[in-house]
Amino acid sequence: MAGGNSEQIADWNGAMGRQWAALQPEIDGVVVPFGAAALTAAAAQAGERVIDIGCGCGDTSITLAQMVGAAGAVLGVDVSRPMLEVARTRAAPLRLPQLDFREVDASAAELPARNDLLYSRFGVMFFSQPTPAFVHLRKSLCVGGRLVFVCWRAPRDNPWAMAPLVAARKAMNATPAPADPFAPGPFAFADEERLRGILSGAGFGNIQLQRFDTAISIGATPRDAAQSAVRFGPASRFILDAGAQNLPAILDAIEGDLVPLAAPDGRVSLNGSTWIVSASNPA
Ligand SMILES: C[S@@+](CC[C@H](N)C(=O)[O-])C[C@H]1O[C@@H](n2cnc3c(N)ncnc32)[C@H](O)[C@@H]1O
Repeated sequence: MAGGNSEQIADWNGAMGRQWAALQPEIDGVVVPFGAAALTAAAAQAGERVIDIGCGCGDTSITLAQMVGAAGAVLGVDVSRPMLEVARTRAAPLRLPQLDFREVDASAAELPARNDLLYSRFGVMFFSQPTPAFVHLRKSLCVGGRLVFVCWRAPRDNPWAMAPLVAARKAMNATPAPADPFAPGPFAFADEERLRGILSGAGFGNIQLQRFDTAISIGATPRDAAQSAVRFGPASRFILDAGAQNLPAILDAIEGDLVPLAAPDGRVSLNGSTWIVSASNPA
């Protein structure tokens, strides 16, 4: 078992988790194409048993439950109480008895055994000890069971996230402190070699990484896009630290930097770059 994720658990239950819960429809709108690419790779079948790791507000857990049908089972696991509340509220009217949610640390909690599929949309990059976490997760798979997840590639390939962050830092004259690129966080699995090492070290076989890029529409105008960037993504995390009093200056700076990147009709669409990762449990 891994564990040791108290900092992330606090973040996902604090301001950041509450913000994600409040913005669920908007965030789903941005990440759906990436999750869908991973769902296609996962190819969940009727009757399969699935765990959705870091399921957040439950979007992909619901889709997976519809894919496996009443004969299957989907368990969405997450550490964030506010996001799980949204997940349960969304799922309730859909009457999917095969779907359940559990508030647990996926890297350490006792999980149901003999699953066919471990799936995640951007929910596995936050473990403080990734290799032991994936050893633990692998043990919940049947022999031949699949692991499929989508994670972000390098920041430089993700201008949808980085252009607003760079503008926000500039507005505050903030020079980012040298940071560990492998620290738990959205870009922790950007490096292909490291990611392969973590999964092979955890005992997975048949490891495949497929690059998947698509444009993310972040706003109908540069102002809209700035307003969306300060609500979620790396710029929003920066603002949580910078303080709300600096928001007007940061918004203006982001808008200014996005103007030259906008299409002639004003829309701002910037690239999002991910890995669709698949692997299997050989034993
Ligand atoms: C970027 S969000 C993605 C949420 C959701 N999968 C989606 O695509 O909307 C990352 C999620 O991972 C969850 N998470 C982080 N560390 C976790 C852990 N150790 N165990 C379970 N969930 C975790 C967070 O609470 C959060 O809901």
